[in-house]
Amino acid sequence: MPDALPDPLPADPMSLFVSWFDEACLEKASPNPHAMTLCTATPDGVPNGRIVLCKGIDAAAARIRFFTNYTSPKARDLESNPRAALVFHWDHVQRQVRMQGTVARLTAAESDEYFNSRPVLSRLGAWASDQSRPIESHEALMEKVAAAAAKLEVPAAALLGEEDANIPRPVHWGGYGFTITRMEVWIGAEGRLHDRAAWTRSGGGWSEPTRLQP
Ligand SMILES: Cc1cc2nc3c(=O)[nH]c(=O)nc-3n(C[C@H](O)[C@H](O)[C@H](O)COP(=O)(O)O)c2cc1C
Repeated sequence: MPDALPDPLPADPMSLFVSWFDEACLEKASPNPHAMTLCTATPDGVPNGRIVLCKGIDAAAARIRFFTNYTSPKARDLESNPRAALVFHWDHVQRQVRMQGTVARLTAAESDEYFNSRPVLSRLGAWASDQSRPIESHEALMEKVAAAAAKLEVPAAALLGEEDANIPRPVHWGGYGFTITRMEVWIGAEGRLHDRAAWTRSGGGWSEPTRLQP
């Protein structure tokens, strides 16, 4: 396993990131290699972090897509403070990628397209769950799912995964695009003499890379 970044460093870090991401997804050393920690903060600077799934990378635009509930705490943070950070960690190959960026909602058409690709139960869950709000029991959540299925007239066979169903995207659920303004890659090395490099991005172009001490 290489314990250093390429030398010279690439002018555009997206190619390196995408190759690491694709490799991790192919190897599937953990169940969710496309998981990333999303860090947000309220306008007055109270931070919060949680895992979400990376659901698309546009290398040319340096943009990463993820999907969530637009009324959740993370969305409330992002709607009032659209600056965020992402962290990918692939422990088995000693790789980390950190990103800072700005976030904006995807178009309704982009959100619809992804929503329609989700399994029936996931689409129903988006209707049934008031994400991060309290609920008295898991059973109560399942009742909300059943109520959503009845309201949307989802056939029993679709609930069993035997056929598809027409379930529209609820307006409170959709995607965000995270546009990278800074990327840092990290690769682990012997004796904790890790190799790191960072790039910043503005006006559609990347800065010269900077190699960083561990
Ligand atoms: C592996 C994994 C993947 C997850 N993927 C998502 C996701 O893509 N979107 C999402 O809203 N929550 C996802 N979650 C749940 C979030 O971590 C979090 O619990 C939820 O979104 C509520 O966050 P909030 O209260 O900060 O808004 C995932 C959790 C795990 C452990």
